[in-house]
Amino acid sequence: NESSGSGGEEKLTIGTEATFAPFESMEGDKIVGFDADLLDAVMKEAGLDYEYENTGWDPMLVGVDDETLQAGMAGITITDERKETYDFSAPYFEATQVIAVPEGTDIQSAEDLQGMKIGVQNGTTGDEAAQKLVGENSSDLSKYDSSAATMMALQNGDVEAVVTDIAVAQHYVKNNPDANLTLVEDDENFDQEYYGMLLPKDSEYKEQIDEAIQTIMENGTYEEIYQEWFEG
Ligand code: ARG
Repeated sequence: NESSGSGGEEKLTIGTEATFAPFESMEGDKIVGFDADLLDAVMKEAGLDYEYENTGWDPMLVGVDDETLQAGMAGITITDERKETYDFSAPYFEATQVIAVPEGTDIQSAEDLQGMKIGVQNGTTGDEAAQKLVGENSSDLSKYDSSAATMMALQNGDVEAVVTDIAVAQHYVKNNPDANLTLVEDDENFDQEYYGMLLPKDSEYKEQIDEAIQTIMENGTYEEIYQEWFEG
């Protein structure tokens, strides 16, 4: 590559938890998905060289904090609590939580989760939302370290419900018809969320990345990638 001059030789390492289709999942040894394509477009636009690594969720959070990773791209919700430790890029995707349950489960809203065995990915906004409903130390709450593990627990009957990000749950239901799952939405109990790239506090790359995100949203690239993964 021809880049030269200030910062041109630097290669950023960007972490993820790649069991979160359609945002990031493994295809062979490659991370694919909406986040992977968007990240590629953004980094190219910003003129930054990078490597996208399936670090896992907790190692990603630790790595961005101690700056062994320069960013995380993993459908990460921008929250006030995380902002105490990290910076975020400009928001790039709107989300909310949803409840996934086996078809036929009698549940109308998040309040019906009381007393049910719930699975969440540890340390996510789904974890937080479930804690709010059943209590922080509830023995009914099982925490898993990847998104895929929560869905597997639901299919195995280890848990009766999973609280997770809506686009991921929808993708899972659609691609696993034999799992016979259904989704329960609840805007009263589940807040609107926005995804951003997770950055270390005072990241030297934030401005470049934000400008690139803006350009990509304005020049049609974002829309193209969106169409590819969410078919409109
Ligand atoms: N949006 C949620 C959060 O930030 C869940 C993200 C999970 N991402 C993943 N790649 N497993 O807490």
